[in-house]
Parts: sequence; C-alpha cells; structure tokens
Amino acid sequence: FWHFGDWVDVVIDDRLPFLKGKYLSVRPRCKNEFWPSLLEKAYAKLRGSYQNLHLGYISEALVDLTGGVQVQFSLQSPPSDLQEILKAAVKSQCLMGCATPGKPSTGDPEPKNGLVRGHAYTVTGAEEIPYQYSQEEIIRVWNPWGHREWKGPWSDRSPEWDQIPAEYKKALCEDKDDGEFWISRRDFVKQFFSLCICNVVPSFLDFGDKCATTWAMTAYVNQWVRGLTAGGSNYSNGAFSRNPQYFIQIEEPALKNYNVVVSLMQKPVNNMPQSQKLLIGFFIFRCPEVEDLRDRLPAAFFFRHKPQVQKYDFNGQTRDVTDCFFLSPGIYVVVPVTSEEGQEAEFLLRIFLKSQDYTKDQKNRLGPVMPKDPHVLKQSQNISLENIFFGYAKQMENKDSDMNASQLQRLLNEVFLKDQTARPGGEFGFDSCRGILALMDLKSNGRLSLKEFKHLWKLLVKYKDIFRMEERTHAGFLDVSDFRNAVQRAGLAVNDQLFHLMALRYSDSSMRVSFPDFACCMIRFE
Ligand SMILES: *[C@@H]1O[C@H](CO)[C@@H](O)[C@H](O)[C@H]1NC(C)=O
Ligand SMILES: *[C@@H]1O[C@H](CO)[C@@H](O)[C@H](O)[C@H]1NC(C)=O
Ligand SMILES: *[C@@H]1O[C@H](CO)[C@@H](O)[C@H](O)[C@H]1NC(C)=O
Repeated sequence: FWHFGDWVDVVIDDRLPFLKGKYLSVRPRCKNEFWPSLLEKAYAKLRGSYQNLHLGYISEALVDLTGGVQVQFSLQSPPSDLQEILKAAVKSQCLMGCATPGKPSTGDPEPKNGLVRGHAYTVTGAEEIPYQYSQEEIIRVWNPWGHREWKGPWSDRSPEWDQIPAEYKKALCEDKDDGEFWISRRDFVKQFFSLCICNVVPSFLDFGDKCATTWAMTAYVNQWVRGLTAGGSNYSNGAFSRNPQYFIQIEEPALKNYNVVVSLMQKPVNNMPQSQKLLIGFFIFRCPEVEDLRDRLPAAFFFRHKPQVQKYDFNGQTRDVTDCFFLSPGIYVVVPVTSEEGQEAEFLLRIFLKSQDYTKDQKNRLGPVMPKDPHVLKQSQNISLENIFFGYAKQMENKDSDMNASQLQRLLNEVFLKDQTARPGGEFGFDSCRGILALMDLKSNGRLSLKEFKHLWKLLVKYKDIFRMEERTHAGFLDVSDFRNAVQRAGLAVNDQLFHLMALRYSDSSMRVSFPDFACCMIRFE
C-alpha cells in the first residue's frame, strides 16, 4: 500500500474473521476467490484494525491503493464540464467513487429509489446516447455490496431503454441484480453529493487537449515546526512568511485547461481521533517580479499581495487537501499551512504540472526554496538516499563504493537517529551493525551495496514507525508488553517461548528494548 509517499509491504496470514458460518467482512462470491478478503485484511492491518476501515473516505482508500492523486468534485455545484471529465477519466482508466448524502443506518427507512443513504459507490462508466431527438448523458454506477440498485430512470428495467436504438441497449444495458446500474447525469448530481477521481497522474484533466501532454510530479516531505515553519494561515500576519514556500513556473499553455494539481497531505497516524487532525490547506501567490527566487519571500510580500488560490478544507474531515486549477504563465509560490500558527505536523506536498510540449527543455524549472534555518533542514528534505549513502561510503579509496560496518554504524547514528538524539534509547553499536550488514549483504562480500542499503533503509523506516506506535511511555524504550505488541504489529508469528528468548536477547537489564536493538531483532527475524 502507498503510505505517505512510500510503498509499504504488509504481511498477513490467511485467517479471516468468520462467525456462525458467515464472513464478517468482504465475503468471497465463490469457493476459491479470496483475494478481496485478503487484500482487505492487509489494508485493515495497515490502518490499525478492521474497525478503522469502517466508515471513512473513498478518496483515502483510492490513494492508498494506487499512490495516485485524487481530485474531488462537489456535485452540489458540479463543474460545467463534468461529463467531459468523466468520459476522459473512464478512457484513462481512473478509479472513481461517489457517495450519497446522509448518515448510514440511522434506522430511518431507506429512500424508495433504491439508493442507500451515506453509502460509497463506484463509478464504472459514462456514455452519451441518442434519446428523444437529442443526446442523453448517462453514468454507470456500481454498489460494492453487489446488490441494491437504483430504481429510477435508466435503471436496469426502466422504459427509457426501449426508446433508444437497439444496438445501444444491447451494448450497455444488462438486466442483472449485480449492484451495477445506469443513471442520468441529471439524477446523478441530484442523488450523489461528491465524486472522487483518482489516477497515478491527473491525465483525466487533459480532455480537449489535442497536443501531447505530460504531467510532471514533484513531491516534498517537510514539517511545520513551532517557532520556525508553523506560520499559520493568516497571510496578513507576519508569521505567515515562515511557512515553507515552494516555487513553480507555469509555461505558456496552448489551451486554457487545468494545468496544475496541488495535493497536500498531513502524515496520517493510526487511530488518531478526528479532533486531533489538524486543519490544513495551501495558498498560491503569483510572484510578479522575477527577482532572485533563491531567497524566500518576506512577510512584506504577503501583506502586499492577495493569493490567487486559497484552498482550505477547514471542516477538517479529510487527511489531504487537493485541487486542480488553471494558472496563466508566470512564477508562483505555493505555501502549505495549518489553520493556526504554531501547530506542528509532518506533511507531504505533491505538485503536478502539465506541460504540453515535452520536446521543450524542462531543466530550467525552478526548484523549491528551503528555509535557511538548519533545524528545519532535517533529513527529510534531502531524501535522496544515494546522497546519504555515498556521503558515508565514499570516505575510503575503495573503488566500488560499498559500505563497511563501521561506516554503516556512523551513518545510522548520524543520519537515521538524528531526530531522536534527545532520546535515551541509545545508538547502534558496532556489533549490531556488523550483524545487520551480514544479514543484508546478499552478495556475501562483507560490504553493503547501494541497493542493499536502500532495502535496509526501508526496513528501518518501517520498524521505526512500529516502534513509535508501540512505545507507550515515550521514554525511548519498549517494555516487554510493548515489545510483544510491536512484534505482532510487524506481522511475525512468535510463540511464547520464542518471544521470551527474544526479550532476553535484545533487552537491557531492566527488560527494556531500545530502537537499535529492536531494529536488529526485527531485521534478523525478517
Ligand atoms: C490576521 O492578522 C492580522 C494582523 O496580525 C489581524 O489584524 C487579523 O485580525 C488576523 N485575522 C484573523 C482572522 O485572525
Ligand atoms: C541535497 O542534495 C543535493 C544534490 O546532491 C545537494 O546539491 C544539496 O546541497 C543537498 N541539500 C542539502 C540541504 O543537503
Ligand atoms: C571501514 O572503512 C574505513 C575507511 O576505509 C576504515 O577506516 C575502517 O577501518 C573500516 N572498518 C572495517 C570494520 O573494516
């Protein structure tokens, strides 16, 4: 699954929750098709529990499954080009979902039209067909329950199908209680309240473009830090200019279609109550003077200029705020914010820019400008693992730039543990690093290659997340029961006896396990 910019592996066994002859979750339709149930189990594990999958947003699920970008459209005020967008989305094989308004299962009788209140549906098609001397726009929707369909116009047996050319009916209409049905665009926007479209690149916004288009994505991981970069959302206030700033350059487009998509996501934390989620958003200002953009824009700039785009979702329900726009050529600054000054969080900002002529040199595009304060220049800003690796491996004359155990030790302590220096959990010892290296060293030459190092880094990040989640005391250690939970969370089947041995081997005299020891233990296990 995609998790905050990375792909994570989730390991599960094949036991499924089953009670009194019934599956409690997704149930297979036939005797030998289990992938949906297993996929659901893995996703539940990623999100903390099956309970955490209950309710939630289609948009989040689609992004977690694809690593793509999702754009939402409110159907109360749908864009005038909705049908064009839908048709382009079907053509570029986007994943789409829509939802009915209301709260699910409140006990009130469900509407007579066959739709379910507060329910998520999948959109699977969009067509235009001749009907009554003009064109009718229809949309195909699927209820993931596999039954309970819309009963109004254009539903499976509705009379509208008999008033169109037979070949259309034959190609499109299928009278089957499988949860899938057609609905007119007019009814669609009345019955559903939001539409979400997700794809790896937002190519569904390219409809109408005759020339070749490419979308380039840049992603930045950064954080709002109190007193440094957590400047809040009030741009008449001096603190605003402390927020991170990212510059983008828009080239002359051939057609005035959507050319920018900005997606801002706060780092998700499992089981986090809604109320603890920060309200986030972003502003886009046009930079009139092409001065030295290697500098950050000062507070005075924001006093003088009104933003071109303000995108907040300050009702705070979703974890990411994403929107698409058309911006005319020029240089802009994107400023991600939290609603109040001083609120701290990590965020992932992804900017998609369309260029319509990819023969053009894209190298002179401007990069982001980072704040100069060294505290803010945490490792996340230079996420290039190559840089880190070669920074430590190169210090010897060795030609193939592999890494030995003492270099690995320095690297792990200076880079990987950097933001934990205040923790008493201790550092990676030389023996641990030698042990880790021996486990990761698939070429068996006693050294770590860049590829092996990248794999190791991924594992360490994964175990650091698990460690943080289970470390209840926040003292930098796991106690025995935390340790047990952490091992379980990592998806490893361990019996009591084995666990006992692990605890003895990897804990200190007070039966506590530090992060370096935990990481060694888990890597060894894996
Ligand atoms: C924004 O900041 C300005 C200047 O500090 C202040 O006068 C104004 O009341 C603030 N607006 C809000 C909505 O807090
Ligand atoms: C990030 O990496 C680039 C490319 O190697 C380098 O030029 C730059 O100085 C690095 N930035 C920081 C802040 O370390
Ligand atoms: C690793 O390489 C460095 C630099 O060449 C060297 O000083 C160090 O002794 C080596 N360590 C081991 C354990 O081989």
